[in-house]
Amino acid sequence: MSNLSAEVSRQDFEKLANAIDLYKTREGGLIPVLHTAQGIFGYLPLEVQEFIARGMDIPLSEVSGVVSFYSYFSSVPKGKHTIRVCLGTACYVRGGKKIIEYLIDHLGVNAGETTDDGKFTLEVARCIGACGLAPAMMIDEKVYRQVNVNKLEQILGDY
Ligand code: FES
Repeated sequence: MSNLSAEVSRQDFEKLANAIDLYKTREGGLIPVLHTAQGIFGYLPLEVQEFIARGMDIPLSEVSGVVSFYSYFSSVPKGKHTIRVCLGTACYVRGGKKIIEYLIDHLGVNAGETTDDGKFTLEVARCIGACGLAPAMMIDEKVYRQVNVNKLEQILGDY
């Protein structure tokens, strides 16, 4: 079993090395490399950030600076599903705040955290393009519009 995961991990790092080769000399190449790495590993642990820094010949601080600047990138494992509650202006004034409060309470996590069972990561979004039917939220790629606390239980139940 450990041999198998070592093999998988070796292949993952090979894939990442290919992406580094591809983007190393391009301006702004770090972002697509991080994107690729997060796609491969699901998140960006220190080991992966160090690998990228070495491969791209840049300081680790530059890599971790970019990882912590963009909320899209994460240095901790994410849950199986990511819930993004919109708190853009339209959603906020139409009840988005109640939704995030309910989820914080119901899931027992703060925004940016993952539930103990690893099922959900809760995040806040600034506008997901559904302002006309606010308040809105997303679970993974699916957008939910005109969400209210009553609907939430059913929505979560589908996962
Ligand atoms: S403000 Fe929430 S979708 Fe635009």
